[in-house]
Amino acid sequence: MASHDQTSNNLHEKIETNNFLLIVLTFITISMGGLVEIVPLFFQKSMTEPIRGLQPYTALQLAGRDIYLREGCYNCHSQMIRPFHAETLRYGHYSVAGEYVYDHPFQWGSKRTGPDLHRVGGKYSDDWHRVHLNNPRDVVPESIMPAYPFLNETLVDHESIGDHMAALRKVGVPYTDEQIKAAGAEIKGKTEMDALVSYLQVLGTYLK
Ligand code: HEC
Repeated sequence: MASHDQTSNNLHEKIETNNFLLIVLTFITISMGGLVEIVPLFFQKSMTEPIRGLQPYTALQLAGRDIYLREGCYNCHSQMIRPFHAETLRYGHYSVAGEYVYDHPFQWGSKRTGPDLHRVGGKYSDDWHRVHLNNPRDVVPESIMPAYPFLNETLVDHESIGDHMAALRKVGVPYTDEQIKAAGAEIKGKTEMDALVSYLQVLGTYLK
């Protein structure tokens, strides 16, 4: 017994006092844990397939999403409702992986200066959003959100939207040739405000 304790102590000491050995063994242990946790997710349908009924963004919604990115809305808003009671009471059903499969890149965010927006679609009228984006203080007096009145004055870029959709198709978004061809004409003359509101109104609405 005594001799057994002796050898296992020696081995422990050898690993703890040898930088190289400790780093290599730690790396192997963590890699194993990571593989066991992560690899199965690649093969789970609930992680990789769109939820039933999920539609790719229309040309106008997609243009609105680009404005959401350009204006950095994600710096203050997450789009990821965690499965906790406090979150689902406030925001609605927690987010599921299959809702994001057409989002490249997804807009989970990691900062909530403002509320989560993943289920904001349909929560307010289009008019509410227009007034709010034009000057948040008009509807929420204590709001610290910036105002975006200039979105009313700029038209969306209708010339590049088709290329944008074609690029998304390359990474798996199922746009048809007809949709891509029609996209430019569909959004021509729309303002950036129209596009952004149309994007906000579809967020989180496909999960039944
Ligand atoms: C500096 C941080 C900040 C930025 C940037 C920001 N917001 Fe907000 N947002 C807030 C805060 C705080 C609130 C809560 C007060 C309010 O409703 O105005 C809010 C509220 C909202 C709401 C209402 C959500 C609800 O459920 O009531 C929407 C919609 C919204 N923001 C959209 C946007 C969009 C779109 C952008 C980008 C164009 C944006 N926000 C940029 C801070 C921000």
